[in-house]
Amino acid sequence: MNKKILAIETSCDETAASLIKTEEKPDHFSIEVIANVVASQIDLHKKWGGVFPELASRAHLEAMVPVLEESLNDKIDEIKNIDAIAVTQGPGLIGSLMMGVETANILSSFYNKPLIPVQHIEGHIYAAFCDLKKNKFEIKKQGIFPILVLVVSGGHTSLILMRDHLKYEVVGHTIDDAAGEAFDKVARIMELGYPGGPIIEKMALDGDDNAYELPQGLRNSGDLNFSFSGVKTSVLYKTKNFKTGELTPYNKNDMAASFQKAVCDILIFKTKKAIEIYQPKTVILSGGVSANSYLRSRFTNEISQSGIEENSILIPPKKLSTDNAVGIAIAGALKDKYSEYLDADANLNLA
Ligand code: KG4
Ligand code: ZN
Repeated sequence: MNKKILAIETSCDETAASLIKTEEKPDHFSIEVIANVVASQIDLHKKWGGVFPELASRAHLEAMVPVLEESLNDKIDEIKNIDAIAVTQGPGLIGSLMMGVETANILSSFYNKPLIPVQHIEGHIYAAFCDLKKNKFEIKKQGIFPILVLVVSGGHTSLILMRDHLKYEVVGHTIDDAAGEAFDKVARIMELGYPGGPIIEKMALDGDDNAYELPQGLRNSGDLNFSFSGVKTSVLYKTKNFKTGELTPYNKNDMAASFQKAVCDILIFKTKKAIEIYQPKTVILSGGVSANSYLRSRFTNEISQSGIEENSILIPPKKLSTDNAVGIAIAGALKDKYSEYLDADANLNLA
C-alpha cells in the first residue's frame, strides 16, 4: 500500500514539518523523503541560555504556516492529496506541543484527514533509518531485530530494546540530567553560550581529553541507567571560585574535551553492556547529541568491535539527529491506527 504522510513536530524549540511517500512491500517499507523543513529558534533562546517556554510557543505559532507551506512546496491545498497527518503528541513543553497538535487537529477536520499520534522518541529512532543521499531507502520488516537504541537528546537519555517495529522496552534511563542537558549546563557553567553541545564539541577539538579527571555516573551500578549530574557538578567545582563566584583559571578547551570524553565513555560503556545482555542485531544511536562527530565515530568503532557489523549500526544524518519531522513521518507511516482528534501530552511515555 502507498501512503503520503505529512508530519508536524513542535515538542521543544524547532518548528518542523515533513512530507514523505511510503510504499509497503512484503518484506520492507520503501520511503521517499519529499520535504524536510526545520525552523530553529536557537537565536531566540540564546540570550536566555536555554529554551524559554513562552517564547517557544509564540515562535511556533509564527513559524507554523510558513514551515507547512514550504513542506508542501508552497501549495497548502496539496494536503488534499495526503493520506494522513502524523504529529508529535508528547513528551515536551506543553505550550510547544499544543501548537503542533492543534494545527494538526485543525488541518485534520478541515481537510478530513486522519491523525496519527507519534511519541517524540519514536521520531528520533526512525530518523536513524534515513539515508538522505538516496532518493528512496528501505526499512526492513524483519531480520533486523532485536534493535538496541541509545537515545541521547536534551530531554532524554535512554537505552531502548525493540523486538519489532513500534514495540519499545526501556531497559535503561538517566536518573537525573539527560546527556544533552549536561552539555548545555556545562556550557552555561563555563559561560560558553547555548546550545552547549555544538560549542563544546568545537572547543574539544583543541583540547586534551585527559587533562581533567571527571566522574562517570553509575559506571559500577550494574544496571543500564545513567547519571550526568555528578560530571556537571564536578565541572562546576573545578571551574568556579565559590568565594567570589568567578571562574577560576582553567583551560576551557581541555575541560570541554575531558567532559565530552567522560560523557561518551559512559554512553558507550552502558551500550556495550546492553549488547552483552540483549544480543541485538542492530544498534541505533539517535537524538540531538548524536550530531556530535566525536561520539559518532567512537560509537561506530567501539560498537563494531563488540560484534555488531558496521552496516547494522544506524546513526541519522547529522541534520536528522536533532529535532525534525522526518522521523515523526516515518514512525507515523508504519502505524495503522488513526485518530480524529488529539490532545498534547507533555509526559507521554513510549508505549
Ligand atoms: O534531540 P534534540 O534536538 O532535542 C531534544 O529532544 O531534547 O537534542 C538537543 C540537544 C541539546 O541539549 C544540544 O546541546 C545537544 O542535543 N546537541 C549536541 C550536539 N548538537 C546538539 N550535543 C553534543 N554535541 C553536538 N554536536
Ligand atoms: Zn528531540
